[in-house]
Amino acid sequence: MDIKKLRDEALKELLGAKNLEELEKLEIKYLGRKGVLTDVLKQLKEMTAEMRGKIGAAANQLKHELGSTFERRKKEIKAALDNKKEWVDVSAPGHKLIRGHLNPRTLVLRKVEEIFLSLGFSVIDSTEMESDYYNFQALNFPKDHPARDMQDTFYLTDELLMRTQTSPNQVRFMEHHNPPLRVIVPGKVFRRDASDATHESQFYQVEGLMVDKHISIGNFKAVIEEFFKRLFGKEVKMRLRPSYFPFTEPSFEPDISCTFCEGKGCRVCKGTGWLEMAGAGMVHPFVFKSAGYSPYEWQGFAFGFGLDRLVMMKYRINDMRLLNFGDLRFLKQF
Ligand code: PHE
Repeated sequence: MDIKKLRDEALKELLGAKNLEELEKLEIKYLGRKGVLTDVLKQLKEMTAEMRGKIGAAANQLKHELGSTFERRKKEIKAALDNKKEWVDVSAPGHKLIRGHLNPRTLVLRKVEEIFLSLGFSVIDSTEMESDYYNFQALNFPKDHPARDMQDTFYLTDELLMRTQTSPNQVRFMEHHNPPLRVIVPGKVFRRDASDATHESQFYQVEGLMVDKHISIGNFKAVIEEFFKRLFGKEVKMRLRPSYFPFTEPSFEPDISCTFCEGKGCRVCKGTGWLEMAGAGMVHPFVFKSAGYSPYEWQGFAFGFGLDRLVMMKYRINDMRLLNFGDLRFLKQF
């Protein structure tokens, strides 16, 4: 009876077991009631006393050893299984995150800035709170001027208000910079307007100002036509309609041929074939004086686009309020 050989075989099999079922089968094979080791112990009684003593001791020791090795292997296999549950495959491709995107107004503003930058203009930052002086008085709206009625707003104090236009930055910029100059000033403006499809009490303008020794309406037309062409990606017709602003002389409003009906006349352009895009004009001598420039030396044009309106035309949106609502069904389309 070779106990040592039995031990070697049993341990080899036992350590090679890969799961609990295999291990249990081996336990039965070696330690079970009809198992190999039990068999050996049963045979002891047929042996001589000397043999019985020797083999009996060895067999009992092996029984203990196998018993504890089985327990140890069981624990190890169980632990390996538990670990497997928390196992992370670091090489697996990650979940794709849903990214947000820019509001159509931001998309158009970036395009507007890109176009004007390429035409040699700088983009200037500005504040939404403004003084009565810069918003009105410096632009030739005295305190009792009737043109203020069109731009009623939210007053913070008698002298401070939420700006009704980006135009105050004409004087603000000129006070600190020498001509010649070319700037645009985009930003939010405020008016006490009831909201409907084409009006909001908060909306965006893009102010523009170009000043040099010899600037004419011809320069204005060239710059603005080029701007529209690049923004809409096609030739658009433009016309200048006479208008009035206290801070430009002469004043006009550039209209473009309706981008919805190509000028044939539709609901959006109210059958006229034209869309109002901006207020504009040649800088009034009063404004140059407010800024400390000599009106005899310098000339310029200024304009103020409604950014929201540009967005509506570019993306054919028929209600301005959609831009402010945060409705994902609308926003996801851009
Ligand atoms: N600020 C004017 C408005 O909001 C637009 C304008 C800008 C007109 C610049 C002339 C020159 O109505």
